[in-house]
Amino acid sequence: MQGARFMVLLLQTLSCLCAVAAGLPFRTPLDLDVTPRVTVVSSGLQGCRHFQSSAVNYSTLLLEADSERLYVGARGAVFALNASDISASSALTIEWEASAEQKHECRLKGKDNKTECFNHIRLLQSFNSTHLYMCGTHAFKPLCAYIDKRRFVVSSQPEEGRDKCPYGPTTGYTALIIDQQIYTASQYEFWSFPDIRRNSPSPSLKTEDAPTRWLNDADFVGSALVKESLGSGSGDDDKIYFFFTEKSQEQTTTYSHSRVARVARVCKGDRGGRLTLQKRWTSFLKTRLTCSLPEYDFHFNMLRSVFVMPGLTPQDTLFYGIFGLEWKNVKASAVCRFSLPEVKEAFQGPYMENQDSGSNWKEYVGKIPNPRPGTCITDSLRAKSINISTSLPDDVLDFVRRHPLMSQQVQPVDRRPLLFRRTTDYTHMVVHMVQGLDEQMYQVLYMGTDEGWLHKAVDIEGQLHIIEEVQLFEEPQPVDNLLLSKKQMSVYVGSPSGVIQLPLSNCRRYASCYDCVFARDPHCAWNGAECVDVLTQADRSALIQDILHGKSGCEQIPYDVVQRSRSVRVDDDVLLQCELSSNLATPLWTKDGTEVQGYNLNSGFRTGTDGLLIIKAREDQSGLYTCYAVENTVKVAVVTYNVSINLDVPPPPLVEPTHSLFTTRPAPTQSSLSEGPRSPLLLLSPRKMEAIYLSLITVLGALCVVLTVVLVYVGFCLRVGQRGKYCLRAATAAHPISKRSSRSRKHHRNSSNMEPKTVSSHCNGLCNGVSKRRNGDIIDEGFLQVVPGEGHTSLGKEPPPPAPPLPPTPQFSSPEFDFPNGLSATLPSVLRRMNGNSYVLLRQSDSENTSPLFYSFADELNRILEKRKNTQLLPRPDESSV
Ligand SMILES: *[C@@H]1O[C@H](CO)[C@@H](O)[C@H](O)[C@H]1NC(C)=O
Ligand SMILES: *[C@@H]1O[C@H](CO)[C@@H](O)[C@H](O)[C@H]1NC(C)=O
Ligand SMILES: *[C@@H]1O[C@H](CO)[C@@H](O)[C@H](O)[C@H]1NC(C)=O
Ligand SMILES: *[C@@H]1O[C@H](CO)[C@@H](O)[C@H](O)[C@H]1NC(C)=O
Ligand SMILES: *[C@@H]1O[C@H](CO)[C@@H](O)[C@H](O)[C@H]1NC(C)=O
Ligand SMILES: *[C@@H]1O[C@H](CO)[C@@H](O)[C@H](O)[C@H]1NC(C)=O
Repeated sequence: MQGARFMVLLLQTLSCLCAVAAGLPFRTPLDLDVTPRVTVVSSGLQGCRHFQSSAVNYSTLLLEADSERLYVGARGAVFALNASDISASSALTIEWEASAEQKHECRLKGKDNKTECFNHIRLLQSFNSTHLYMCGTHAFKPLCAYIDKRRFVVSSQPEEGRDKCPYGPTTGYTALIIDQQIYTASQYEFWSFPDIRRNSPSPSLKTEDAPTRWLNDADFVGSALVKESLGSGSGDDDKIYFFFTEKSQEQTTTYSHSRVARVARVCKGDRGGRLTLQKRWTSFLKTRLTCSLPEYDFHFNMLRSVFVMPGLTPQDTLFYGIFGLEWKNVKASAVCRFSLPEVKEAFQGPYMENQDSGSNWKEYVGKIPNPRPGTCITDSLRAKSINISTSLPDDVLDFVRRHPLMSQQVQPVDRRPLLFRRTTDYTHMVVHMVQGLDEQMYQVLYMGTDEGWLHKAVDIEGQLHIIEEVQLFEEPQPVDNLLLSKKQMSVYVGSPSGVIQLPLSNCRRYASCYDCVFARDPHCAWNGAECVDVLTQADRSALIQDILHGKSGCEQIPYDVVQRSRSVRVDDDVLLQCELSSNLATPLWTKDGTEVQGYNLNSGFRTGTDGLLIIKAREDQSGLYTCYAVENTVKVAVVTYNVSINLDVPPPPLVEPTHSLFTTRPAPTQSSLSEGPRSPLLLLSPRKMEAIYLSLITVLGALCVVLTVVLVYVGFCLRVGQRGKYCLRAATAAHPISKRSSRSRKHHRNSSNMEPKTVSSHCNGLCNGVSKRRNGDIIDEGFLQVVPGEGHTSLGKEPPPPAPPLPPTPQFSSPEFDFPNGLSATLPSVLRRMNGNSYVLLRQSDSENTSPLFYSFADELNRILEKRKNTQLLPRPDESSV
């Protein structure tokens, strides 16, 4: 009796928790794993402005205030490029490589002559109106020099760089030149302590090492000047903020992490102390930046990069940080946004203290000397005739020396990350404010990944919608730097192999009104005929845009639907392809106006992510099939097939492809969409399995003693309503394609032009995506190829499955031909993709012994392969390829 009541109580609690979890913005980590709406592969980037030379490691970028020139620091060279077109032949170059002797010495020091024994430019900044200042690692012996901007030549003898520049190319480092004073932060030599310095001219200042070390193994990622003196009523000073990850000092009962993300600040007017803290900062304070999903105990402690977004006033400054997890082998990124007033508030709060010089840091509760330690010189201090930091009393400076750390942590605005993404490591980010047609200001984020992709996202009420993911390079390589120019309307990407210039938007990529509106790109709007850049439009009254909801405005706009016909024999398998350009859309098929229930084996239909498969066609399956893309609950027709299934193959009806005009119909309700039947493939992709696993662990962590029965219940509870469409991509992308098939596919691409809907060739060759990707495969003018994407983690961890044997090549391998049953020249890829999925599923069923459906699906594919081998296909041009 007692036990039963306990069970009921427990179940009630759990269902409550489930309901609460469902109501929260974060239900499971997976829900936060935002899917980029459109995928553009590098082949679609042809014509994008590109700068390359014999140098490598283009990691330092500098845009002059007037934005006419882009300066680029690489390995052994500095370049001055035309910012409006970096590929213009006018590039100026300064070659600056370490001498052979210096390289030899570097090698003798035991350094790697393939990476470290070069002159990597680490600092490149404007010094004054006529000169730049640069520093290079110079084969482990840093040097610095001035550059004459006008003539673009080195204008001075190189000078010692040891105290301004790190020795290695990858050492964490940040530098700023403010009023000809050089502020740098790094762990300069590997045996030295990390240090925040002001170098030249005097008075030079550093951070303190004893008795309290102010920085612990700090890895610096950024710094920024915030001109807080502007409009300050209290005569406040400008401040310089530094961002880094360091070894954690504080230990509390709730968490212990070995590393934490930090922000530190110093006052620009700091002159050091007189006796105490001589040649040391008197205004150094640091505190922790938190970026976590506390519900899941995910703490993103590694700060990878920051972007400082200036506001209308200094107080409106925002700091954007890209954070990662401490576990190196887990790919994941979170983006958190912090506001300056909240950072300042932490610096106004209680201090931490190291009581016994051990590792035991606690909040300091004793008396705080006056004036408050670590503050800048303000009017109230000047009134006490303290107008310079050297006049600060000794007890204040001694307190500063021992209390660099604040107790209060800085929470992100909204108290949660803007974005959480598994399987992606973002490296750099820039943010741009754009005004939408609704007069609202939207923040558009451009984020580079460690594999050479650029994600463009828009912040919609605190949630990021990823508008597109763009593959920048054929060869995966990290994005080393990002820079944005409003004047040039460009994003510049620095990487190991070169610099790329992309436009801020590419609206013409969106072919229809719905495509344009679903994109939710604040730059883009539909003008009745095409998707255009809002800025180029003088008259904006008739433009259609819906950033907030991404669904309305196009109801009355007619659009084209591709029409095709298929004639096949009874008992054949027919594949009706339907490629959706959006990763967020789900396909919906109708036959003669009625929804196709293609999800159980007996219906004779299988719906996959790339089309509808009619298995062993029967005569009564003839009819008019329409594929709809359902996105944001709106149903948009994509393609219709007039399928006739006959006992004998009729002569080919040589009909030109025609287009019909459709207007939209209301979509099925949300619930029917999310609860609708799904193919077993969609239900149990590896990603979802992981998500379920994660959810389970989370729940377990929260409720220690939960019965197994209850666990199953929870698992079920969390499983409902998760989408799985994007998951398949992971499985397929992990699947390599053989050189041979990719070559033949390339050949295809050159020799034919079959896909009527992938058309876009505007934009003067500028970064124009002509490709559409679905589930890891790209349809590029009608052909498929596998691109790196979501599945990369699995690629790295375990060897990919061996590619299934290619089906026998038909004798008539001309790519010009499509076959009446739709199993055309693209078939091998399609099947391989299916095989790729089923491989993963089979592997799962090995360990879990799940539904036999997976086996039967694999069998089915084998049967199709077998059949294709035996069936005598009749070559003839298909209507759709004419
Ligand atoms: C930069 O390129 C643009 C367009 O190619 C050209 O109009 C301009 O004159 C160039 N600027 C310089 C400084 O070469
Ligand atoms: C690095 O040094 C090794 C010998 O120590 C030499 O064989 C190799 O060519 C050097 N590589 C480069 C890039 O200089
Ligand atoms: C800028 O700094 C350089 C190097 O110190 C100096 O030679 C030059 O005269 C300065 N230019 C101006 C305008 O002050
Ligand atoms: C500080 O005040 C003293 C006199 O009170 C003055 O001589 C000195 O120039 C002032 N220093 C600064 C930096 O304003
Ligand atoms: C420099 O580029 C090479 C490849 O071009 C890469 O292997 C290396 O990691 C890069 N080094 C840095 C410091 O980015
Ligand atoms: C479908 O094609 C058949 C001939 O193959 C034709 O008779 C029929 O009218 C077509 N239906 C539609 C809706 O176009």
